[in-house]
Amino acid sequence: MNWSALSHRQSRTQQTLMAVSYPARVKLAQLPTPLQLLERLSAPLGGPRLWIKRDDLTGSALGGNKVRKLEFSIGEALAQGCDTLITCGGVQSNHCRATAIAGARMGLRVHLCLRGQPEEMPQANLFLDYLAGAKVSYVEPKTYNAQRAELLVELQQRYAQSGHKAFVIPAGASDEIGLWGYIVACEELKADCARAGFTPDYVLCPVGSGGTLAGLILGSALYELGTTVTSINVDEDAEYFVTKIHADLRKWKERYGQTLDVDALPINVIEGYLGSGYGKAGPEVLWTIRRVARTEGIILDPVYTGKAFHGLLSEIERGRFKGARNIIFLHTGGVFGLLAQQSEFHFETEHGQ
Ligand SMILES: Cc1ncc(COP(=O)(O)O)c(C=O)c1O
Repeated sequence: MNWSALSHRQSRTQQTLMAVSYPARVKLAQLPTPLQLLERLSAPLGGPRLWIKRDDLTGSALGGNKVRKLEFSIGEALAQGCDTLITCGGVQSNHCRATAIAGARMGLRVHLCLRGQPEEMPQANLFLDYLAGAKVSYVEPKTYNAQRAELLVELQQRYAQSGHKAFVIPAGASDEIGLWGYIVACEELKADCARAGFTPDYVLCPVGSGGTLAGLILGSALYELGTTVTSINVDEDAEYFVTKIHADLRKWKERYGQTLDVDALPINVIEGYLGSGYGKAGPEVLWTIRRVARTEGIILDPVYTGKAFHGLLSEIERGRFKGARNIIFLHTGGVFGLLAQQSEFHFETEHGQ
């Protein structure tokens, strides 16, 4: 063993760890989540080994990437003495569902501003919002898109008038606070990979509101993962996310007095897999979801992970990751979104077999 190299590495890690001092946090997620090799899916690729970081297992009803972010958003809310959480998203938002359940678990009132109309019979995520006791307001999509921030502040003021201190969490908890969740995930990934004996060439995640990717970018630099963090957009476009994430990285640096040169960090977004829009999955995505369920017993969703995983397989086939030996896909959860789109899957021929 090369002891001088080891002690050098240790002192570098200590230096890095000293710089990473986490802000207020509550414990919500079941951590660490497993890192699994997808043996049967990797075999026909004839190249990289595909691994999956099971952040769908951060907790049952609370599963998914939002739980990691909410540990810090709610930590900050409690540090500010708030008794209410306000947030927003689509009617089937995973983030809103996770906030509703996390709020209930922490004894906090939760108010959700949802884009769209009430469902006749609330299902999947929306059903869980109600079950967990969240108050729900519906906002017409045009108004939501144009005035979301103002609506949330108005709501916060209404709570203040009735004697409650409300904390506003932005869509997806994707801001300089929530992104800490994925800095923590990188600390975990570093240990996962050391145990498994490899350095990932790539870590890939879906990007929907940007906080997961922003946290991974920072965390991989702070913990020196030696990997390329990349993503596949399932909403908006690459330009939107590069601008948003740049801004969030700068806010993080300023708010927490960090010295990392955040402007030098690459923000990689692979386009081409959005299909006909956010939340809409084409037959190729549904086919990938089915294939992964049957080959590995892993359940993906049509809005985020199914699209991103389909993109990953397609890009491997096209040669984008040529020469890569290990690629980690971050499974960000979303199973309730799959249940909301059950009717898109057709198994008629199989029933008769
Ligand atoms: C299941 C799931 N995966 C991925 C994402 C995308 O993560 P982010 O919003 O941090 O970009 C979201 C939320 O937007 C999600 O609910």
